[in-house]
Amino acid sequence: MNLYIELAYLAASILFVAGIKMLNRTKTARKGNFVSALGMFIAILATVTQVRSIVLADILICILLGSAIGLVLAYKVKMTGVPEIVALFNGFGGLASLAVALSDFWLHTRQLHLSPGVITSTSVVLSVFIGGITFTGSVIAFLKLSGGISGRAIMYKGQHLINLLLLIAAIVLSVFVVINTSDPIYIITLSGLALLLGILLVIPIGGADMPVVISLLNSYSGMAACATGFVLNNSVLIVSGALVGASGMVLTQIMCKAMNRSLINVLLGGFGQTGSPVQTGGSEMVVKEVGIEEAAQIFDSVSSLIIVPGYGMAVAQAQHAVRELYELCEKRNINVRFAIHPVAGRMPGHMNVLLAEANIPYDKLVEMELINDDFANTDLVFVIGANDVVNPAAKNNPGSPIFGMPVLNVEQARTVIVSKRGMNPGYAGIENELFGADNCLMLFGDAKQTLTKLVSELKEL
Ligand code: TAP
Repeated sequence: MNLYIELAYLAASILFVAGIKMLNRTKTARKGNFVSALGMFIAILATVTQVRSIVLADILICILLGSAIGLVLAYKVKMTGVPEIVALFNGFGGLASLAVALSDFWLHTRQLHLSPGVITSTSVVLSVFIGGITFTGSVIAFLKLSGGISGRAIMYKGQHLINLLLLIAAIVLSVFVVINTSDPIYIITLSGLALLLGILLVIPIGGADMPVVISLLNSYSGMAACATGFVLNNSVLIVSGALVGASGMVLTQIMCKAMNRSLINVLLGGFGQTGSPVQTGGSEMVVKEVGIEEAAQIFDSVSSLIIVPGYGMAVAQAQHAVRELYELCEKRNINVRFAIHPVAGRMPGHMNVLLAEANIPYDKLVEMELINDDFANTDLVFVIGANDVVNPAAKNNPGSPIFGMPVLNVEQARTVIVSKRGMNPGYAGIENELFGADNCLMLFGDAKQTLTKLVSELKEL
């Protein structure tokens, strides 16, 4: 391969690494995205210049078409729809790896009648297998999240055994592909099996666990691309695939740790579906209600405030009303900060993205480990649509399904006000004893409406 192409690939790889590094801070994330996109542009340009068998105009038409679809999607998709769109992107990545590896294998074995070496045929097997699982698994994840099919975990008798048998069959077939490259039946059957496994592995996982699955499938799509890089002997594909594979795996681990669940537990599925000893909220707990006027007076009297956003804030789209509240409190010299739990909401960085969209300064968002000791010295905590991430049962009830999950110490503040619509449980489906605590007041109603009323009440004080 020509030296210029190798240098361009090296530059692209360096830009990918630098871009990913910049993505780990909210302040530099936007630039990081641009840097990575520049790397991708260089990589595409370097690849296109090497193409001999296809007309350049065809490639350009495809690039324009793809870019137009991407642009429309990026503008149309709402913040809450990001996980499902990421699922689709991963799926197409997996499908591309499967298609490229399959066609390369076909070209060499059926048309040129060459026998690929063990390394190439092993790479083909990995691309096809991982790519196939990623494609159909991602489509199921997309359908579950977008409401195309039920988000509930679909479980049946012998499910894990069937999956295990299919997995063993796939391994046996893979060995056949490597030792007998001339018969296409093995690779075709392996592709079909991978596509089937993608569906079967994702259907038992409930909709709310999908962010973890999507992150894992993202990692798979990277691994498939990396294997395709070996098939095509393309260094930038190997590097970028490995980067996606590794970063997706790290994110998956972070999410599992923050939920105190093992990856196996998520993948086996059925969380919160049946048979688990969960209580369904609101049973006999006595709670103290507070009205808007009284709540506004409490806000008016404090000097420190921590706001805890959760899934309910995202559902209500209350982030702009939250910003108004924040600005009003700042004007009254109240020290306001936001406590961000790593899995608050339903996708990684969900709260950060929403609050940044509402122009809340980045330095006001404080991660759980950094703010957890400050609750005890705080006058008021305002919990907006968060439930599991502020549930003390995770610390003091060994029988609770979320026992051991790190949570925010909100109950230690002088006063806690919780904005939610009723006594419904959160994602884990369990009662929250915080709501019955002496220092906790419930402000019932949709978060956006409640905050809008609270802001106008505060303005009048
Ligand atoms: P949840 O525990 O899910 O609780 C959300 C609460 O919001 C509910 O109790 C609900 O109560 C309330 N709510 C819903 N709509 C509302 C509205 N319009 N206005 C006001 N309140 C509303 O949320 P959380 O504390 O953010 O915890 C997140 C959960 O998701 C964790 O269990 C976490 O493990 C899980 N999870 C997260 C992720 C990621 S990556 N973030 C991935 C997988 C799973 P009402 O119906 O009574 O209003």
